[in-house]
Amino acid sequence: MIWLIGNKGMLGTELSLLLEKSGLSFVETDREVDITNMAALTAAYAEIAEKEQVKWIINCAAYTAVEKAEDDVETCRSLNVLGAANIAAVANNAGARLIHISTDYVFDGKGIVEGGTSTRPYRENDATNPIGVYGFTKRDGELAVLENNPASYIIRTAWLYGKYGNNFVHTMLRLMNEQDEIKVVNDQLGSPTWTFDLSSTVLAFIKIVESGKNIPFGIYHFTNEGNISWFDFAKEIFKQGREHGRITKDCAVKPCTSADYPAKVKRPAYSVLDKSKIAALGIEIPAWDISLREFLKLCVV
Ligand SMILES: NC(=O)c1ccc[n+]([C@@H]2O[C@H](COP(=O)([O-])OP(=O)(O)OC[C@H]3O[C@@H](n4cnc5c(N)ncnc54)[C@H](OP(=O)(O)O)[C@@H]3O)[C@@H](O)[C@H]2O)c1
Repeated sequence: MIWLIGNKGMLGTELSLLLEKSGLSFVETDREVDITNMAALTAAYAEIAEKEQVKWIINCAAYTAVEKAEDDVETCRSLNVLGAANIAAVANNAGARLIHISTDYVFDGKGIVEGGTSTRPYRENDATNPIGVYGFTKRDGELAVLENNPASYIIRTAWLYGKYGNNFVHTMLRLMNEQDEIKVVNDQLGSPTWTFDLSSTVLAFIKIVESGKNIPFGIYHFTNEGNISWFDFAKEIFKQGREHGRITKDCAVKPCTSADYPAKVKRPAYSVLDKSKIAALGIEIPAWDISLREFLKLCVV
């Protein structure tokens, strides 16, 4: 039995639907079982385990409002650190494997320069150095997970979009249908990642292990393949959105810099993650533009 925590969020909803299709036995909870409350989590676990042994816990619950976190440190820390620690402790007591989702925000976004001048993608064992409250709490959450349940897989991802939450693609489609011109930052580099592809990867982990193959516990990076700026992403959303009839008028997409958008929190300038570790497991990593096409074909409501 798989216990999916955070099933009503952007990623959790997608994963829930995929689990349903897969025929695997699972239960799911969200806010009704508060992850910051150990007694509530333990009681929920006891109830679930009475029916069937919990072999896997997947944690998609988190505090994800990056800007708001700067003024709401306690709540953010409580969810991303205490909540993660509690879930890991429950998994440990249950003898269950935990899949915990983390983020590129554990890095500072300056990249890693080795000789030459250009940076290489971040590897799993590169030193973390968060630059905002959200990143700090997610990094501390990773440490808490590994400390409380060594049988854990942490999957770091970045630039998520999907059908079921507020995200960049939905915002762009709306703005492009409303405005004649939009400006998008051109000085942050990353890999747009469809929640469906990440959910498929989570399921692939479970299937590989359940088939009897060993996957070493620890940290893995997963995003879609390819590196672009938000501006490049917006241009492609416009192009493909027009092709698929999701955008019905013209809109000029212009580049700008992060400095043009004063924000409480600095965003990592370079968010590209090295995925060779996960690729070596035989897990497919679709290109970002192919996934965007699929998403626009299938998913926009
Ligand atoms: N979104 C991205 O671009 C991105 C990028 C990199 C990594 N990630 C990571 O990916 C994971 C999933 O992100 P997401 O965007 O799908 O998050 P999300 O949409 O914000 O979903 C989080 C879920 O957790 C629930 N939750 C909040 N407080 C809770 C509590 N005390 N107990 C139980 N559940 C609670 C939320 O409920 P409410 O909605 O009612 O608060 C929501 O349903 C997170 O670990 C995030 O850090 C996200």
